[in-house]
Parts: sequence; structure tokens; C-alpha cells
Amino acid sequence: MSNSGEAELLHTFKGIPFTTRSSPELLKSLDTFDAREDDLLLVSYPKSGTHWLAGVITKLYNTQVTITSPIEFGDVSQLEKLNKLSSKRIIPTHLDYNMLPPNFKNKKCKMIYISRNPKDTAVSMFHYYRDNPNLPTVDTWTAFFDLFLKGNVVCGSWFDHFLSWEEHEDEKNILFLFYEDMKKDLPKVVKEITLFLNLNVSDNDIQDICKKSSFSEMKNDTEKENSDPTHTVCALTSNRKLIFRKGAVGDWKNYFTPKQNIRFQEMFDEKMKLSKM
Ligand code: A3P
Repeated sequence: MSNSGEAELLHTFKGIPFTTRSSPELLKSLDTFDAREDDLLLVSYPKSGTHWLAGVITKLYNTQVTITSPIEFGDVSQLEKLNKLSSKRIIPTHLDYNMLPPNFKNKKCKMIYISRNPKDTAVSMFHYYRDNPNLPTVDTWTAFFDLFLKGNVVCGSWFDHFLSWEEHEDEKNILFLFYEDMKKDLPKVVKEITLFLNLNVSDNDIQDICKKSSFSEMKNDTEKENSDPTHTVCALTSNRKLIFRKGAVGDWKNYFTPKQNIRFQEMFDEKMKLSKM
């Protein structure tokens, strides 16, 4: 971080760094948050394709659904607003599994976890740190790489986040998705989502939804929509223009030095030794 004053942009709750856009009071209140059985949670570590997934999912419903602000965003009044919503709620979150309000677990709410190659996630997050005024400044990729590897970034360690959710992968109410699979064959992943959500969507409609959810379409829509300041599903910004950067798989190769790649791989092998990934 280039400026120690910027450390004030972050605070730590239960060992995890959050921005000041998530108030400590709200984070404390999450434990008692009242979930509803038909809530759908969209879960991710930042920069994993959350907006893409949210864009697809909202197009699948023909009943009224509301994609809410992230559950960890704002102050406690934000939770009251969520409580007052009468329509079905689709709730985004970057929370670690252990921090999720217990009510969502007890009521077996459906949850979709989207993950992405952590190397591409790191590069995407590096740009987010540079462009997003709610995050501390990082001067160089080298500096950010070290922070990311140590888990010294907003939302904490990618490894811890992923592992906390992967432990629950076999639970019937949780669907695990990968950004790379969406890039490879979006209609196939969308079909999988419709089956998980028990939604009846024709193959034609799926094709149409996929076209409308392409990177270029979503980026263009954002240029038009950006007057709505509350239009993100990420607690770290309200500015959708910061979200659609490159939308590619493998961009990490343009940033990682061979030495960084080895260090990353060693950390990956060590942290993920019990993972099925
Ligand atoms: P890049 O920074 O690598 O471009 P999130 O929504 O979780 O913040 O993730 C943002 C990342 O998803 C960005 O990655 C963004 O470009 C990418 N993304 C957003 N919409 C996309 C789409 N329709 N297709 C592919 N990638 C998309």
C-alpha cells in the first residue's frame, strides 16, 4: 500500500479485511439475520464473475425477483431494507462460509458459489485495487502479488475463502460453478443452473439469454445503465464501469513472472492439498 492513511479504507472483522462500506455494526448483526426459505445466495470471492452470473440468473426468472445489495454492504439499516422486500430475494455476498448468517444454513437456502482460477482472480483484483477508490492504492503488480498471496487483501485469502465453501460442496442446496466453464460452454452451465433452481427454460431461451450475457453486451448495457449508482452486486463499489475489464481466461500469463508462478504454485499445492479442485 502506498499510503498509510489509506489503511483506513479497510477494517478487520473476525480476522478478515472489509472496506468501510461494510460497517462493523452490520457485520455483527449478520448472525441474527432472518433468512427466508426461498432466498437464493450468489456467493463468490471478489472478481470471480459475480456480475456475469447475476446477469444470467436474473434473466432466467419470469416471476418477480429482486437482486439485492450484497448482504455485507452498508450499515444495519441496509438489513432492515432487505427484510422489508416482499419479492423473492437473490442475495449476493463475498462472505466466507463461516461468516454466513446461520439462518441461511439452517433453512437450507439455495446457494451458488462461483469460482475462478485464482491467478486470473488476482490479476483482476489488482486492476480493481488500482481503479476503485474504495480500496487502498497499490503501486505495482509485484506489491499486489505479495498482498494477495498473504491473504492481505479485502475479503482475505482466496484459498481460505474457497476452502471454506468447498467443504460444503456436496450439500444439495449448494451449486459450485467455475468461470472457466462459463467461458467454455455458457449454455451448458445455464442449463445446469436451471435444473438446480427448478426453472423451466427452453433451450431457445437459454441461447438467447447467453447472447445477452456476453461480455460485450453486458459492458455496453453498463455504459447505458450507469446512472443507477446502486447497480452492482459487489460490496466494494457501486460503479459498474469498474467491473467489465477484459473478461478473459489466462490473462495471468501477461502478469506473472516465472518466479511468481512458482511461488503461487507452491502456495496452491500446500493450501489446496485436501481440495478436490
Ligand atoms: P477481468 O477483470 O479479468 O476482466 P466480479 O463480477 O466478480 O467482480 O468479476 C469481474 C470479472 O468478471 C472481470 O474480470 C470482468 O471482466 C469479468 N466479467 C464480467 N462480465 C463478464 C462476462 N459477461 N463474460 C466474461 N467475463 C465477465
